[in-house]
Amino acid sequence: MFHKRIKTLQHLLQYKNSAPLSRKAFSSRLVLGIETSCDDTGAAVLEENGFILGESLHSQKEVHLRTGGIIPTVAQQLHRENIERVVQEALERSGVTPNQLSAVATTVKPGLALSLGIGLDFSKRFVKEHNKPFIPIHHMEAHALTARMLQPISFPFLVLLISGGHSLLAVAQGVDDFLLLGHALDEAPGDTLDKVARRLSLTKHPRCSTMSGGQAIELLAKDGDRTRFPFKTPMGQTYDCCFSFAGLRNQITQTIMKKEAEEGVEQGTLLQCTNDIAAATQHTVACHLAKRTHRAILFCKANSLLPSDSPTLVVSGGVASNQYIRKTLTIITEETGLQLVCPPAKFCTDNGVMIAWNGVERLREGKGILSPDVNVCYEPKSPLGVDITTEVKAAAIRLPSVKIKIPN
Ligand code: KG4
Ligand code: ZN
Repeated sequence: MFHKRIKTLQHLLQYKNSAPLSRKAFSSRLVLGIETSCDDTGAAVLEENGFILGESLHSQKEVHLRTGGIIPTVAQQLHRENIERVVQEALERSGVTPNQLSAVATTVKPGLALSLGIGLDFSKRFVKEHNKPFIPIHHMEAHALTARMLQPISFPFLVLLISGGHSLLAVAQGVDDFLLLGHALDEAPGDTLDKVARRLSLTKHPRCSTMSGGQAIELLAKDGDRTRFPFKTPMGQTYDCCFSFAGLRNQITQTIMKKEAEEGVEQGTLLQCTNDIAAATQHTVACHLAKRTHRAILFCKANSLLPSDSPTLVVSGGVASNQYIRKTLTIITEETGLQLVCPPAKFCTDNGVMIAWNGVERLREGKGILSPDVNVCYEPKSPLGVDITTEVKAAAIRLPSVKIKIPN
């Protein structure tokens, strides 16, 4: 109980300022997690019970905001410049020496090739030098399992993962056992929000100059009227659980161009109706996510894929930090009798903790633990689990109408 309370307190304090501990003994196994799949260099050391001993995170967000998107070679260089320090910091904050580790877990798929390569090369050298087992990690598996670090959630559960690079619905049946119900057909929701934010020049907005696109849209949407631009929710006539955001982005871009012409301003100028466009964009993204999730829940129920006793939907990935999207999903889970679990925003976006936790889960079950000299390659593209999207589409489940009405 006492231990649990300390753990919660540590989660709240975020360890950033915690003083390094002197070398000490640990009763449980320790895992170092390393994340470099996109634009965050992260590392963390976890105890087997999920207790975070220390972590460090270097975000490249501000650099990529300035260049108008992630340039892979720039991301690679920033990972290269920071990886050593970030891992060192996580170890120092934990008071753990490399020799005390039981394993090193590192994201090897999916992600940007150049970014993945830096984390993997560093890890290969590290495990060889210290003679430690290596656990290659699937980034989306890690997002899916993070919620289990924070509260007990038994398999199977439904998971919606929404980020800058991904959008998927899956049933998590075990640590390395997933059924893929739906995935992104074109761009991911975070990518759409980032591109819309860029098209609206939100880095010029005094309130959002250092925010990611998704964060900026969430903030401005609070003061917007979402009904002013009734964008069409994507894929209304396709009865599966896949996602498409490219058409919606096109609708939004057309509207922005029309408004620029009406206001007589050039592209790159903040529009007067920016807040309303942000609110309508956020609402339509939320509705699309909610509808696909609703169908996935009905598919799971029809095929007894979730326990009848307290079935759970876990939502994670950077876009899951959006409160409006969370509220929209709550309407669906209340309607269908599921428990909704969203990790705090800090654990939704990329970090080393989620990778270390995935390492702990695999270590406990003895799954995918390699000796330090096994040659592992990164995989930029790697679907999660067994793909049953064809079966989901064939079921062609029609949704009952649900009113999505929430204040911004
Ligand atoms: O999971 P993540 O950190 O990295 C990827 O694996 O992509 O997610 C980053 C994405 C970005 O596209 C960002 O705009 C989006 O998550 N995001 C948000 C919010 N915070 C971050 N989207 C909507 N609302 C937010 N509050
Ligand atoms: Zn991610």
